[in-house]
Parts: sequence; structure tokens; C-alpha cells
Amino acid sequence: MALDIQLRSAAPVDLESELLVIGVPAFGAKDAGLPPLLRALNEGLGGALAKLALKEEFTGKRDQSLSLATLGRLRSDKVILLGLGDRRGIGAPETRTLAARAARAANADRATSLALGLPPGIEGHLRAVGEGLELGAYRFSRYLTGERKPKTQLKTVHVGVSGRLKPNAKASMLVGQKVGEAVNLSRDLSNEPGNTIYPESFAAIAEKVGKEHGLKVQVFDFKEIRRRGMKLIDAVGRGSSREPRFVHLSYVPKGAKRKLIFVGKGITFDSGGISIKPAAGMGEMKHDMSGAANVVALMAAVAAVKPKVEVHAIAACAENMPDGNAYRPGDIWGSLDGKTVEIVNTDAEGRLVLADALAYARAMSPDLLVDNATLTGACVVALGTTCSGWYANHDDAAREFSAALKRSGEQMWRMPLLEDLRDQIKSEVGDVKQAGDRSGGSITAALFLREFVGDARWVHCDIAGPASVDRPNAWITTKGATGHGVLTFLALVESS
Ligand code: BES
Ligand code: MN
Ligand code: ZN
Repeated sequence: MALDIQLRSAAPVDLESELLVIGVPAFGAKDAGLPPLLRALNEGLGGALAKLALKEEFTGKRDQSLSLATLGRLRSDKVILLGLGDRRGIGAPETRTLAARAARAANADRATSLALGLPPGIEGHLRAVGEGLELGAYRFSRYLTGERKPKTQLKTVHVGVSGRLKPNAKASMLVGQKVGEAVNLSRDLSNEPGNTIYPESFAAIAEKVGKEHGLKVQVFDFKEIRRRGMKLIDAVGRGSSREPRFVHLSYVPKGAKRKLIFVGKGITFDSGGISIKPAAGMGEMKHDMSGAANVVALMAAVAAVKPKVEVHAIAACAENMPDGNAYRPGDIWGSLDGKTVEIVNTDAEGRLVLADALAYARAMSPDLLVDNATLTGACVVALGTTCSGWYANHDDAAREFSAALKRSGEQMWRMPLLEDLRDQIKSEVGDVKQAGDRSGGSITAALFLREFVGDARWVHCDIAGPASVDRPNAWITTKGATGHGVLTFLALVESS
């Protein structure tokens, strides 16, 4: 259920709720203990706030916090101050994190109502407030029953800004809320297990999302996938009783000058196939469709923002399982592109479904082609579980993508397409070998994908997904690659 978010121009002391959270920029000695934002509140508490701030050395430094019960002296039952650091460093990402931390605190406190007091200067970032509140309130609890089921859930949020509200303030906050809900859709899809999310059910949800938002929806079933010559998707999907699906959602506004295509890896469960994975941690591979979930969620966000850019989402969905019909190491398969691929390890399946999806996308002549995939364990080894890797084959595409990352605040690190490693994917028996050796595994996967993008301007994201836990960006709240990348892709679309 979406939050009920109210917005008004009010001082924190005038807000009413079970929990009041106030974002506090760093302040110094000249503020005589507390900045103006908090003075009325401090008076209401008989000076207790200033006393506690002094004792705990709370000065609004980034990530500092201070919490106290109001014991009936204020309209809110409890106050939490969250430090925002230097005023000049507070942009959209910091504002989003503040709102998310506030929503998380409310759920942790079993509060159903939250008041969020924003310091002066944040009025321009109300969209980020809407985004953060939804992101922070997210939980994946639908399979918990009885005692395990959360008894309370945040419902109402009163946002108070100091200073006058601009006419579009409420509208942009609500757009932000829609964006946050879209990211949460990606998280839900990612967290949902393999027994409920398989290619067919994923495609059905994508179709529903597309129709709800007035998008064009195309779903190719297994027969159509084969008819079109998507042989690599066939290879990966054939070992499962759940048939593969190929999903294409389109947003085509009038007068669009640019066309962006986003491709996602949709392996709804990755057992490794005949090259089966070890048992430990295999369950995490239910998240192996996080890339596909991201591109579907992106389209919901795009529909909320309504940019003047053509946007397409493509999800290549299959389940990677071993059975008598499964593809095998040593196989040689054709592809939609026409190149033949020597299979060396059936656990390197993501790059195969992506290769066909990229070839399909490239034929639509995009201005920018972006894929994202939980592609390699090697990327997690290289960058850890809190950061994704990205690659670009053109400098201007790279510049665009870096700018989008700056706006989203998501953590991704650029990786190099090292030509020296190309030898690893040379094949004696086919045009290209599917995978290299253990060294540079994320890079050789990217080099493999590059074989299928032709001269398109292309960005590839190796998302850290399945193994990741809470990220330092406080707004990501559950396990999984849940939603990591959507905000960046949206920023990319909006700046086009
Ligand atoms: N989905 C995995 C990659 C993965 C594993 C991502 C763990 C995040 C956490 C992918 O399909 C895979 O199994 N890749 C192999 C490739 C190898 C066989 C060349 C890998 O990374 O080990
Ligand atoms: Mn795999
Ligand atoms: Zn995989």
C-alpha cells in the first residue's frame, strides 16, 4: 500500500505524529547549542533537547543522530534528529536518504504516523523526499504469518518544510512517490522466490504493469523465441519445465528526439544448469532476474515522469536448470546475431540470453543501449556487495552515464574493457567462446556482450545483486539487488 503523504509549510514543532524526524544540517558554536530550526522545539521540551545535544555532541554531522521521548510535551511522541552534514552538500541523494531513514525509523518504532521536518533549502528536492519515503518504508513481509507478521506499518507521513511552498511542490513530491513505488516493484519481483516468479509469471506481471501505464507490450513465447532465431535464449531455457519468455515494453511519446533501450537479464532461477552450482547460497539465485525487474520497474517510473524520450525495456527471461534436454558444456550454438558460440560452462548463462536481447535491441537503432545484469560473481569479488560495475564502449555514452550516476547517488564504479583479455574468449571451434578463465571474469563477460552490440553506443552494468546485504545508501533496505540502478536509468532518460 502506498503511503498517504501530506505536505505543508510548517515548523517541526507544529507537526503531529507518533514519530517526528528532523533533518538537521551541521551547526556550530555560534548557534548557541541549537540552530533556529530547533529552538521552538527545544523550548517546548523545557530545554531538554539542547542539553542532550550538548551531552551527546550532536552538531548535525552527517549520519549523527539524537533521539528522545517527548513525554507528552509536544504534538509528537518521540523526536529523532538526523545529521545532514554541511548545508552545501545536501542534494537530492542526501535528501532521499534522509526521508528513507525517517521511514525506516518509523517502521522500526512501530509508528503508523511519521512527521518529517525539513530544514530550509531542501524545498527544491521534494521529489527525492517522495522517493525516499517509499524506499525506506519498503519491507518484504508477504510470506510472514501469525506472530511473524509485522503488526504495524507506516501509513501516514506529514512533511513540513520551512518557508513557502512552490506551486508544483506537492506534484513533484507525488511524482517522487511514484518513482519510489516503481523501485519497490523491482524489489518485490527480485525478492519473490523461484516457485512464484518464473519466465511466464514474470512476463504476465510485466504485461500488467505495461498495460496499467498505457505502454505497448509484446511478449514472445518459446515458440516465437525459436521462430525468431533467439538460439541462445533457447539454449539456456530448454533445460527447465518453465519455458522462457521475451518481454518488450515501449514508451513512445510524440515528438521524441532520442531513443533509449534498456535490457535486463531475467534468469528467474540460476541453478548453474549442468555445470551446477554448489548448494551453499544457491537460493540467492532467485534474485538472478534483478536486471529484468529493474527495466520493468523503470518503465513504471518513466510513465510517472512522462519524459519526451522514447524508452524501451527488454527482459530476456529463462530458468537455468539441468535436465535431459538441457544445453551442455562443449555445445556450439548459433545466435540471433548469427555468430556461433562455444559453450564452456552452463553457469555463464546470463551473457547468453543478453546476447540475443542485445542483438534484438541493436536492430532498433537506439541512441543509447543500456543493459543490466547480475552477471558475474567476479564483479562482486572486485567491488564488494554494495557497488555495481559498469562498462561503456563510447566516451560520450560514458559521460552521459557518469552524469546520471551523479544525480542518482547510486554506487557504481566504471570498469575497463581491457582488450588484452579478449584472447580468453577466442574459440577454436566457434566464432566466440562463451567465457574465459577465472581471471578478470567481469571484464571477459563484458567483452563477450560487446560482440553482440555492433556499433551501438552501449553501457553494461554488472549489478552486485544476489549476495548483497544492506547498502550504505540507507534507502536500500532488504537483501538483494533490489532496485539498484533504476534511479540512475531514470536520470539518464530524464537528461536525454
Ligand atoms: N548469476 C551468476 C552471477 C552471480 C553470482 C552474481 C553470485 C552475483 C552473485 C552468473 O550466472 C554466474 O553464475 N556467473 C558465473 C560465470 C562463470 C561460470 C564464468 C560466475 O560468476 O561464477
Ligand atoms: Mn550462472
Ligand atoms: Zn546467473
